[in-house]
Amino acid sequence: MYEAVNSRRAVRAFSDEPVSKETLERVLAAATRAPSSGNLQPWQVYVVTGEPLAELKRRATARALAGDPGDEREYPMYPAELTSPYTDRFAAAAAQRYAALGIDRDDPDRPMKIAALNSEAFGAPVVLFCYLDRTMGPGQWGDAGMHLQTVMLLLRAEGLHSCPQVMWTMYRRTVSQIVGADDGLVLFCGVSVGFEKEGAPQLRTARADMTETVRFIGG
Ligand SMILES: Cc1cc2nc3c(=O)[nH]c(=O)nc-3n(C[C@H](O)[C@H](O)[C@H](O)COP(=O)(O)O)c2cc1C
Repeated sequence: MYEAVNSRRAVRAFSDEPVSKETLERVLAAATRAPSSGNLQPWQVYVVTGEPLAELKRRATARALAGDPGDEREYPMYPAELTSPYTDRFAAAAAQRYAALGIDRDDPDRPMKIAALNSEAFGAPVVLFCYLDRTMGPGQWGDAGMHLQTVMLLLRAEGLHSCPQVMWTMYRRTVSQIVGADDGLVLFCGVSVGFEKEGAPQLRTARADMTETVRFIGG
């Protein structure tokens, strides 16, 4: 278990080696054991591969390369007023990420390049899309996060890697057209899944010291 947690990273370079449906079913069946408040199990997951995924990548990448700012967001990616220490952590992670992706911080095309890498799902042969009923509240969004983390850890047990991607919400209308999700659902994020591309830079994003985020009370 520690190995799965420690080896999970947001991988941004996948090989085109396919992932079997049996493997995906095994992982997703096991992940149904994720906890949720009141056992609502509020996540709705679409698993997209093959031609539908190729078509989605084509349409989303065309939008990214055209500089399309994306569909109106249904939830903010971050609070409008992000302050320290969150801004510091964000900036540090972004710097590490751009360096690993070989994108210059001052490159005027940086946003478009990043959007296009994301819209190609970093080459992954599978993307999971996690939706919630529009009626669900913050507690259920937390449940969906627990479910996705369970999925991502189980993927490690299968030798697979993943990258959660909120970026897909920029193209949520295109995603919904492909998966057939109706207006009653809100897209939380996509998760790219596959085998890591050999030789790609392996990014281990730093973390704040535990003393910044955990307090022991009572000994
Ligand atoms: C809900 C969620 C959405 C994310 N969205 C994106 C994304 O759109 N694109 C991306 O490259 N990484 C995305 N990430 C990955 C984070 O950048 C990454 O988890 C964080 O920097 C820590 O790095 P690590 O997961 O490699 O340890 C997302 C992560 C989460 C949990």
